[in-house]
Amino acid sequence: MSELPTYSQLPVTLVRGEGCSVFDATGREFLDLYGGHAVASTGHCHPAVVAAIREQAGKLLFYSNVVGSDVRTRAASAIVAEAPPPLTHVFFVNSGTEANENAMRLARRHTGRREVVSTDGGFHGRTADAISATGMEKYRALQDPPVPEHRFVPFGDLAHMERAVTTATAAVLLEPVQSMAGVRTAPPEYFRGLRELCDRRGACLIFDEVQTGFGRTGAFFFAGRDGVVPDLVSLAKGIASGVPMGAVLVSSAIAARVKNEEYGTTFGGGMLACAAAEATVRVIGEERLLDRVREGSERLRRGALAIPGVADVRGLGYLLGIVLARDAKPVRDRLFERGVLVGGASDGKVLRLLPPLTLGPNEIDRFLGVLRECV
Ligand SMILES: Cc1ncc(COP(=O)(O)O)c(C=O)c1O
Repeated sequence: MSELPTYSQLPVTLVRGEGCSVFDATGREFLDLYGGHAVASTGHCHPAVVAAIREQAGKLLFYSNVVGSDVRTRAASAIVAEAPPPLTHVFFVNSGTEANENAMRLARRHTGRREVVSTDGGFHGRTADAISATGMEKYRALQDPPVPEHRFVPFGDLAHMERAVTTATAAVLLEPVQSMAGVRTAPPEYFRGLRELCDRRGACLIFDEVQTGFGRTGAFFFAGRDGVVPDLVSLAKGIASGVPMGAVLVSSAIAARVKNEEYGTTFGGGMLACAAAEATVRVIGEERLLDRVREGSERLRRGALAIPGVADVRGLGYLLGIVLARDAKPVRDRLFERGVLVGGASDGKVLRLLPPLTLGPNEIDRFLGVLRECV
């Protein structure tokens, strides 16, 4: 072994992927409802995405933001065109944690304040500031010393938030659907209340849409849902169908005050990643994947709820938590043995589904059949 240990690994080595399936070296297929860690938005190796990457790789693999690039301009316009106003600008980075680091910095510099209020159970990444904003002690303890000026309140509780957000608050940062916590969301009044509170106190509202962005909830972004638009949105995971990329969507008011040299990263906005991102947006539109996610989500929800032993199904679109009446780990292991990959959550009773947005009715029915046997 020469790699440092990171995640606990499934006992499988993958060599190939196609659509919602991945394959090991013997040709054994796995139905992937974990979506390559919520990354394979257009499915594994979507032909249009692969073609765009191949074409770009033959032209120019990379040059940084010190030069202009048509493919970068096209990717930025395509992403901003899906975002609600006033989210008019995009800053390309390389990962979800980097997107959150920069979103918090943008908020602090914009407001001239330091404090960030986040929610218990939220996950925002593993670099210094993002892990310090993560509402799970297990992760936060890894950053020692933590970055100061972070506060936490219970998710979904507006009264607590009202007390925590003051004129010292630069930003409220939260996942609109808390994924790792076990797929929990809150009613529209909560998000409307957050927007109104941030406006009243002069704080920025940041949605961490690393998981919920790029179609996963059945809308292109959670931002804009029920009329609530945050000031900043962090993105990553499915943005480029598997080529590493992150981004921050930035409101026009914040963008107007950003000067040259304040933000940057060598690899952010590289041509290869931008070609993949542009193709990803195109595929989501051309194949009407948002409709597919909404319909598929209902089928999954109804089907799972009809299985004895399933207590609840939480979440939106293709970010679903199947809540079992018992510990989910043995069920997850049995699903794996039968060739189905799903995620776990910090809530031990939850199976987490983050499939490609291309997941269709036949694959859903196949999954539900295996799930019924395994539960
Ligand atoms: C909601 C959320 N934010 C941030 C991150 C961090 O993203 P990355 O691993 O790309 O740094 C993750 C990763 O799982 C995430 O789920």
